[in-house]
Amino acid sequence: MDKAKRNAVIAGNWKMNMTPAETEAFMKELAPKVADVKSAKVVLCVPFVDIAAAVAATKGTNIGIGAENVHMEEKGAYTGEISGKMLTACGVQYVIVGHSERRQYFGETDGTVNARAKAALANGLTAIICVGETLTEREQGVTFETVSRQTKIALLGVEKEQMKNVIIAYEPVWAIGTGRTATAEQAEEVCAAIRGVIASVYDTETAEATTIQYGGSMNAKNAAELLAQKDIDGGLIGGASLKPDDFTVIVKAAD
Ligand code: 13P
Repeated sequence: MDKAKRNAVIAGNWKMNMTPAETEAFMKELAPKVADVKSAKVVLCVPFVDIAAAVAATKGTNIGIGAENVHMEEKGAYTGEISGKMLTACGVQYVIVGHSERRQYFGETDGTVNARAKAALANGLTAIICVGETLTEREQGVTFETVSRQTKIALLGVEKEQMKNVIIAYEPVWAIGTGRTATAEQAEEVCAAIRGVIASVYDTETAEATTIQYGGSMNAKNAAELLAQKDIDGGLIGGASLKPDDFTVIVKAAD
């Protein structure tokens, strides 16, 4: 399948930033700037407490709202957690699963990432599953092994028909928040390898239809080059997604 036939998805990951009032102001500012975007999907993944404000402020626009995490169970004694059912009930359409910060600071493993991804899909959410090697893993020459393992385990038990609701985000850990972006060649090479893993788990058709994003210091200046690569279908953007103008430039580069 031709790249143009895949969904180009530009998603912001706000991380632990923005209050509900700031969220409302941001969405009101962004909405007219991206209103004429045709092919790219515009998504902002926001903290749980900002979801209500984000959904209300983007009603009737082409901006989709996502969460930054989801629990694997529907309900129960899991203090501080939020289920997929709760998210969809609030108007959330997307959720980030397995971000490297969750793996690094909150004990997420390939296994919990898999469980959370399945819970997201079971609730009709689109799961943005993050994979990526650390600097040490890159230097040790195990980038492909790492990313391949993460992708395969994240997708265990995910049916082929559910893959239309899966986005894989390749985020090299060493490029996140560091201002050090992977070169377009480095990013393309790993995104192509991820597509190969999906083909081996499912089939070529499924792999060709899956949206693969790059994330890690993507910004208004480098987005166009990264997004021009044949296996990079979108971006997962941290810092630059907090600035409506910068985020708009990235969205337009993907459109
Ligand atoms: P930065 O764009 O701030 O490097 O963050 C990337 C990221 O972690 C998105 O999930």
